Amino acid sequence: MVSPPAWNRSSEPFAELISAQAIAARVAELGAQITADYAQLSRTSDIVVVGVLKGSVIFLADLVRHVAAPIFVDFIGISSYGDATLSSGVVQITQDLSRPIEGKHVIVVEDIVDTGHTVHYLMENFRTRRPASIKLCALLHKPDRAERDIKIDYLGFTIPNKFVVGYGLDIAQQFRNLPFIGYVQGS
Ligand code: IMP
Ligand code: MG
Repeated sequence: MVSPPAWNRSSEPFAELISAQAIAARVAELGAQITADYAQLSRTSDIVVVGVLKGSVIFLADLVRHVAAPIFVDFIGISSYGDATLSSGVVQITQDLSRPIEGKHVIVVEDIVDTGHTVHYLMENFRTRRPASIKLCALLHKPDRAERDIKIDYLGFTIPNKFVVGYGLDIAQQFRNLPFIGYVQGS
């Protein structure tokens, strides 16, 4: 077995918040929950897992391997205007889904629900496309920052009001590849 890369923690601008082991255990639980919840569907081929680019990619890749059902994976690209660390609430679709979701059972996979503006916009947009059902799966939630009331059907972890990186999440497009979730010191 090759060990994961050793990050030189003391010289990096972040400290570990959630370990790779804790993430793996929680992701397995979420996958099992999703498997159980969708098991009774007569046509499981109608499940569409939508990853929100780019932050959800690593989470989604691990999660879907714990979902024991036939699924279709799709992605949507969005950008929110304004400062990278402050959500403006103005969201634009930069890359749309590759197929319609009408009549499908959709599971939206997000990295983090912060103010909630992005997910609010996305869920409203998807609802107009008339899916059979729609649920939200988010790895992280920062309730202290909530500006929208968002129902998260499958949640990994509730975290304090700190800026986090790793396991898909970035700061200025950096550190998505950390195997753990770290918080930016001083944030
Ligand atoms: P919102 O504030 O809920 O709309 O979150 C918008 C987006 O900001 C999320 O999907 C993330 O991509 C990003 N974001 C929010 N908080 C963090 C963080 O702590 N680290 C990295 N990205 C974040
Ligand atoms: Mg995001």
